[in-house]
Amino acid sequence: PRELGVAVLGLGNVGTEVVRIITENAIDLRERIGAPLVIRGIAVRDLGRDRGVARELLTDDPASLIRRDDVDIVIEVVGGIEPPRELIRTALELGKSVVTANKALLAEYTGELAAAAAAANVDLYFEAAVAGAIPVVRPLMQSLAGDQVERVAGIVNGTTNYILSAMAETGADYETALAEAGRLGYAEADPTADVEGYDAAAKAAILASIAFHSRVTAADVYREGISSVTAADLASAAKFDCTVKLLSICERITEADGTERISARVYPALIPLAHPLATVSGAYNAVVVEAHDAGRLMFYGQGAGGAPTASAVMGDVVMAARNKVHSGRGPLESTYASLAIAPIAQV
Ligand code: HSE
Repeated sequence: PRELGVAVLGLGNVGTEVVRIITENAIDLRERIGAPLVIRGIAVRDLGRDRGVARELLTDDPASLIRRDDVDIVIEVVGGIEPPRELIRTALELGKSVVTANKALLAEYTGELAAAAAAANVDLYFEAAVAGAIPVVRPLMQSLAGDQVERVAGIVNGTTNYILSAMAETGADYETALAEAGRLGYAEADPTADVEGYDAAAKAAILASIAFHSRVTAADVYREGISSVTAADLASAAKFDCTVKLLSICERITEADGTERISARVYPALIPLAHPLATVSGAYNAVVVEAHDAGRLMFYGQGAGGAPTASAVMGDVVMAARNKVHSGRGPLESTYASLAIAPIAQV
């Protein structure tokens, strides 16, 4: 089968892990896709820095990279609105499928980009934009597509959850916990987006849009951050067997006269220690979905960090690649056939 060419835009925490996975898992990925996945180039800002990847792959010209005829899929892990918006739109118009982790961009322009993808009959996937490794975008868009989602609520920012957990569990002060979250690769380049709730609000906008088949942007989300939460607040919360978590809540609300509206909000909330969301510690995220027929579903896992986020990116890349090769039907047979089954006693 022909090769599938990939362009990677951005080589930060997530981009580096994406490149590692494509390289290390080349054989498995080829089996799952039915064609080899080949990196054609990696766009970076500073060509001078040694990043441990083959130098001939690096370029500081993403616009030319995405236009190459041998690029089928563009992976955008740069972040920020421009230049990614222009690059992604161009890539889609040129018939490339796009996988992005860019929540700030999607919170504003999902409609525009989805229209470009539909017009070109290619994929636009963004599982990694919300809650890192946790599959929540695809469940909302596909698994629950036949249900009526009423509410999506949870912890969708790893940095603030790391900070609040450290303050509650170890009495760490705010600055120390924030610096550690940055060092571990959870925080955004400018952590204001995390601590002031902008990152969570962008994710809430994306969740509300896909859960309620509607167009919600970050500006529609009520937002309060955690920068004014003090160690004393957490100590008093503990006295009442409670803790403080930055919650993102998206709800479908039916008014008395039958009109429906959507409420989306992000704010530090006092929750009882017995609540399942209270036990979500460190950079972990959790999302609770309530749907009319499915009832309550809970998704939990690593919401930030290079490798977990890259896992979600790669799931999308495999889906997009399968669609390019087999119009959506993956080579399941070869996947099933590739491993011998060990009798239980040997495991
Ligand atoms: N800064 C984000 C967070 C990264 O802390 O959750 C994942 O989107």
